[in-house]
Amino acid sequence: MTASHNGKLFIETVGCQMNMLDSELVVGALRKQGYNLTDDIREADTVLFNTCSVREHAEHKIYSALGRLKFSKQARPNQVIGVLGCMAQKDQELVFQRAPHVDLVVGTGQLAEVPRLIDAARESRERSLAVSLDRKEGGRAAVSDSFQSYDPLREPEMRPTPHQAFVRIVIGCDKFCTYCVVPMTRGPEQSRPPRDIRHEVQVLADQGVKEVTLLGQTVNSYKHTQDGRLFRLSDLLEHIHDVDGILRLKFVTNFPKDMTDDLLQAVRDLPKCAQYLHVPLQSGCNEMLKRMKRGYTVEDYREMMSRIRTTLPNAAISSDFIVGFCGETEESHQKSLDLIRECRFKNSFIFKYSPRPGTKAFELHADDVPEEIKKHRNNEMLALQNQISAEDNAQFIGRDVEVLVEGPSRNELKRGDPTTTGPVQLTGRTTCDRIVVFDGNPRLAGSLAQIQIDDCTPTTLLGQIVTREVQHGSSSLLPILV
Ligand code: 5AD
Ligand code: SF4
Repeated sequence: MTASHNGKLFIETVGCQMNMLDSELVVGALRKQGYNLTDDIREADTVLFNTCSVREHAEHKIYSALGRLKFSKQARPNQVIGVLGCMAQKDQELVFQRAPHVDLVVGTGQLAEVPRLIDAARESRERSLAVSLDRKEGGRAAVSDSFQSYDPLREPEMRPTPHQAFVRIVIGCDKFCTYCVVPMTRGPEQSRPPRDIRHEVQVLADQGVKEVTLLGQTVNSYKHTQDGRLFRLSDLLEHIHDVDGILRLKFVTNFPKDMTDDLLQAVRDLPKCAQYLHVPLQSGCNEMLKRMKRGYTVEDYREMMSRIRTTLPNAAISSDFIVGFCGETEESHQKSLDLIRECRFKNSFIFKYSPRPGTKAFELHADDVPEEIKKHRNNEMLALQNQISAEDNAQFIGRDVEVLVEGPSRNELKRGDPTTTGPVQLTGRTTCDRIVVFDGNPRLAGSLAQIQIDDCTPTTLLGQIVTREVQHGSSSLLPILV
């Protein structure tokens, strides 16, 4: 049993939704022990960084932040500094070498140990390293066992918004795309039991959660046999769909090859499923896809898109792209742009290739596209995608959409006037994951609202709440709904 602590905790999280979830869980555990969160790193006696290794830039940021802490640590010898997550698993001892004032390095598979290790560091002033086995350090079972999924039950106030929660269903990844560190930093692919997932969704619903996003690096590769029955993602969606209180179910990120018909049909037939699929293409050039070892061709992706469009004609599809991968020519780049024009993604996340030690691409291929060209291709792709997103959004002008209200918009939070009682600027999302901004009462957070769209930007729809006047059978616009 660890001692109760009432110190101040600062945590910085970079990277993907999986990291956001991990931070929420770690903070939840530490809060139970009496820690209080602070936004001010200078007053914290425990400083944690939950890190990302997908691109070098994300690692640089953390090492710079650690460098800045060197002097504050000299002034506060009792301070405990921890590096958690992907960079901890990947760099291990190297973190101590580059930043000797770090006390703990804890990988993605050991996060349950964080409270104990912080106490130990404070008591003994000894450093600790808690990481999982490298993928070649043992048999599959041993390596898998060393990556423990960390999913304790949580406190509602620890979530980013009270009505939305992430639920992990798959940890790790076995795809080994040649540019990617994730199979190393998050270990072998393992699916959690449907029973545990349903229980977690139920608890979250009882706590007021309305929208659950199921997480996995390749979420649609989910497979678990329970009581002799195989559950695929489609079966799991059905299994949790009737949990009372949940209004919307989403899942990210999908792997194109695993986008099977049963899953598309489940999304079509289960009304709570969001009509939104994030299915990264990465490149529109077959040579690049082969070199990335993605396991599909442009033709396969096209075939998948046509199946999605047939079964889910109103679904929005989003993608990820890497520009400037090893050997990418202008012609390959143009093929990616062509695919964006053809598929008309709702949005795309675009990344400049960042060579990662330990990956196959790093070992086998030169990072031969100059930074300037990567930047240029990145901007060109972004401009094209923005144009498509803007055209796409413009189609909604004059139409009504249903949104799940998330809460005050970022602008509103920046303004931050706690005395406001009237309408504020709110944000919500449509079932297709389109962001909608409108004025309304903050109490609407967590409910579904009808919004009439009257304007848009490439990323946002702007509108007003609609209320139906039943006696006249017509709609009228009201600026505020109380
Ligand atoms: N360089 C650039 N982008 C990368 N991604 C993954 N690895 C790299 C890398 N080495 C991108 C992929 C993935 C997203 C999460 O990050 O597009 O889908
Ligand atoms: Fe990385 Fe590929 Fe796995 Fe995605 S599917 S996490 S890109 S290895």
